[in-house]
Amino acid sequence: MPRPVIIDTDGGVDDAAAIWWALLEPELDVIAVTVVWGNIALDAAMTSVGRVLAAAGRTDIPVARGAAGPIGVAPELRPATFIHGEDGLGNTTEGRPAPAMTVAAVPAPALIRRLCRERPGEVSLLTIGPLSNLGRVLTDDPGFAATVRELVVMGGSARAGGNALPAAEANVAHDPPAAALVAGAAWAQPPLLVGLDVTREATLTDAHFVLLGEHRSAAAEFLDAPLRFYRQFGSVLTAPDCPCHDLVAAMALAHPALIPDAPVLPMAVDAAGGPAWGATVVDFRAPAVARLRGAEQDRAPGFGPWRIGLGADVERFRRQAAALFGG
Ligand code: RIB
Ligand code: CA
Repeated sequence: MPRPVIIDTDGGVDDAAAIWWALLEPELDVIAVTVVWGNIALDAAMTSVGRVLAAAGRTDIPVARGAAGPIGVAPELRPATFIHGEDGLGNTTEGRPAPAMTVAAVPAPALIRRLCRERPGEVSLLTIGPLSNLGRVLTDDPGFAATVRELVVMGGSARAGGNALPAAEANVAHDPPAAALVAGAAWAQPPLLVGLDVTREATLTDAHFVLLGEHRSAAAEFLDAPLRFYRQFGSVLTAPDCPCHDLVAAMALAHPALIPDAPVLPMAVDAAGGPAWGATVVDFRAPAVARLRGAEQDRAPGFGPWRIGLGADVERFRRQAAALFGG
């Protein structure tokens, strides 16, 4: 039985690849897409999602508008239009079919809450943008976290440093207070953090771009130009390979074996505004301290147990990405 999943996205290029892959994946049933600001402004992100769903032939899936900014005090970040384009699709939408989607009657936090509450323990969440929508749900409904089957977050970094800020990955840096709420919530099982530690390893290579250019699948035809635009600046820290962060997270939700190295460790977010503002802080001491004390380590306030992705099955990621592009 495919697992019902809600995808929370900020409408960028790697988001488009992740959404398209999830729509085709037999293990997953995408029951809603919720949209948040981040890579681009909220209206542009909605339009970008509408273009992806229209091109993929899934205009039946409800799409809900979410937060247009952070829910708390956050760093001023340069808009990521130089990586994702003004349209979130690498400025490639001129002449393409118009966006089309079923816009939900309620805002994103309400839709997420309703769908998970209706089917407790059944619905998975995949977040591939800032955590503002999920932070809002947790503020409104503190018991919500226990109703979610599993949560996979593309965001953060345990050892790899930051991309948006020296110590902070973009999805966390855009809204540290929301990410801090998500980090410390009482989830039914430890969520999976798919951060820069794995997304800088599991990358697209030249061979993927050759395949994309051959337009052998509808996904390749749609994603070819956006990914080429994205590669120019998105690859600065991984050159010559190209990250596709959100695609790794989508695959990890469906196939946990993609991230074989994912120890459960306490994790929190620095929302205090210092040099490490927006960093995910992972307590690697925890297993040693637990052995020493013969019990689970006391967790400091704000820390929650997370599966921290540290190593990916890179070949598997590359094979699955190639399959999406028709290889
Ligand atoms: O840091 C990578 C993340 O930030 C990805 O989700 C990308 O789409 C941007 O939102
Ligand atoms: Ca994203």
